Amino acid sequence: MPLISYPNLLTGFEHAEDAGVYKLSAELALVQTVDFFTPVVDDPYIFGQIAATNALNDVYAMGGKPLTAMNIVCFPIKTMDISVLREVLRGGLDKMREAGVLLVGGHSVEDNEIKYGLSVTGLIHPDKVLFNRGAKPGDSLILTKPLGTGIISTAIKVEEAPPELVAKAIFCMTQLNKKTSELIIAAGDVHACTDITGFGFLGHACEMIEGDNAGLRINSAAVPVFEGVRQLVETGFVPGGLYRNKNFRINQVEKEQTCPDWLFDVFFDPQTAGGLFFSITGKQAHNLVKKMHDAGITDAAIVGEVVADHPGKIFIY
Ligand code: CO
Ligand code: CO
Repeated sequence: MPLISYPNLLTGFEHAEDAGVYKLSAELALVQTVDFFTPVVDDPYIFGQIAATNALNDVYAMGGKPLTAMNIVCFPIKTMDISVLREVLRGGLDKMREAGVLLVGGHSVEDNEIKYGLSVTGLIHPDKVLFNRGAKPGDSLILTKPLGTGIISTAIKVEEAPPELVAKAIFCMTQLNKKTSELIIAAGDVHACTDITGFGFLGHACEMIEGDNAGLRINSAAVPVFEGVRQLVETGFVPGGLYRNKNFRINQVEKEQTCPDWLFDVFFDPQTAGGLFFSITGKQAHNLVKKMHDAGITDAAIVGEVVADHPGKIFIY
């Protein structure tokens, strides 16, 4: 589409950024994002928390601080009890409170299926925006949450997900990336940052090197994945989005035999409220991962490196 560019628009949506950023003054820029979707778990209160976390996390992925939010609601008022909606909104509000975000409005429409999410507005210094591109050869790659929430949600829908696995996935999907983002900003030397959501780990990794003179090397064994996801994948609980993501990016990815097929599929699993994925100067990486572990972000791990020798490609071993 013919997009309008404007000097104050630091990033629009041509580079699949996590949020749009508009410069208001030399010290202040606006961060704006919106996200809503159908339930990924059965409990309406938890669904509300997850949807709000997912929306707020796009502001943290830019390095911003969310300030205000508006509810977006689709609800089947004729067939579903209004108490369900109340629980969804309560979940969302609890996450906004945790993020220090004020609810300033919202809009609801009648629909066949329930959907919920937020539009979020935040602030950032215009010189401190964490774009999803700009990874530099020599950087280490860090991922902060395990993968597999799309596969787990698919198993939940047919009541085949083990309860311990569901509990761990819910714990991660309701975890704001607030502290993670703060630690990244404090560390400095971060060159590219995004959060892992609908396009899956490798989909968002591809965005990181698009148009750049850099490639990625990923150590498949180092990538955090929920325990028990392997069995679900091998049983066939795979969301349709996983194969769409894989087909879309397969030409940019090269897989060695050392990475098993089931794990390669998990790398394309669409995530909800996933972790931050970022590139940081190599010598800083271990220190930052340790700080994250100390802060309770226990799944954070160095998963690979940025290289110069195969620009635009991801090599997985
Ligand atoms: Co995002
Ligand atoms: Co988003």
